[in-house]
Amino acid sequence: MAGCRLDMHTQPKVLPLTKSDFFEDGRGSRALVPGTIARGQLRADAYLYTGMINGKPGDFMPFPATREVLERGRERFNVYCSPCHSRMGDGNGIVVQRGFRHPPSFHTQALRTAPLDYPHYLERQLAPALDVVLKLLSTSFEREAGEQLSLF
Ligand code: HEC
Repeated sequence: MAGCRLDMHTQPKVLPLTKSDFFEDGRGSRALVPGTIARGQLRADAYLYTGMINGKPGDFMPFPATREVLERGRERFNVYCSPCHSRMGDGNGIVVQRGFRHPPSFHTQALRTAPLDYPHYLERQLAPALDVVLKLLSTSFEREAGEQLSLF
């Protein structure tokens, strides 16, 4: 076809992250300058991103609990948590009715006054619930998440 040429496609060029003998280290792409932060990934609010203040878990919301925030939370809860905890939070979700371990009801004084504690969330909430499922795959929460958690 006249006007349709391939030379821009077939010209020698380095595709991202492929080999190249142009640089001594054999990589086509240069390593990031240490300390580089991608746009939008500054994460200057350490408490928001880690839940920790000077290595200790904080116990206050890192942003105001507005009506909008609460509504978003309820919507997320209904999607991700209610299968076990039920929409009412009594621990009698549909999965539990079919034989999954019964979580505690949220309507206890102990949980109402529990601290906002990120490690507690991992150890007491996430790990026990996931281990039930991961056991079937001959693995565990610690094994799957261990390395990733140490990144935080
Ligand atoms: C697959 C089922 C399942 C899902 C989904 C689930 N949980 Fe749980 N949750 C459990 C079980 C089981 C326990 C009891 C763990 C224990 O005490 O050993 C629990 C415990 C808890 C506790 C009490 C921990 C304590 O200190 O006693 C809270 C709070 C909680 N979950 C919140 C949530 C939230 C929020 C979500 C959604 C983001 C969620 N859970 C999703 C099964 C689940």
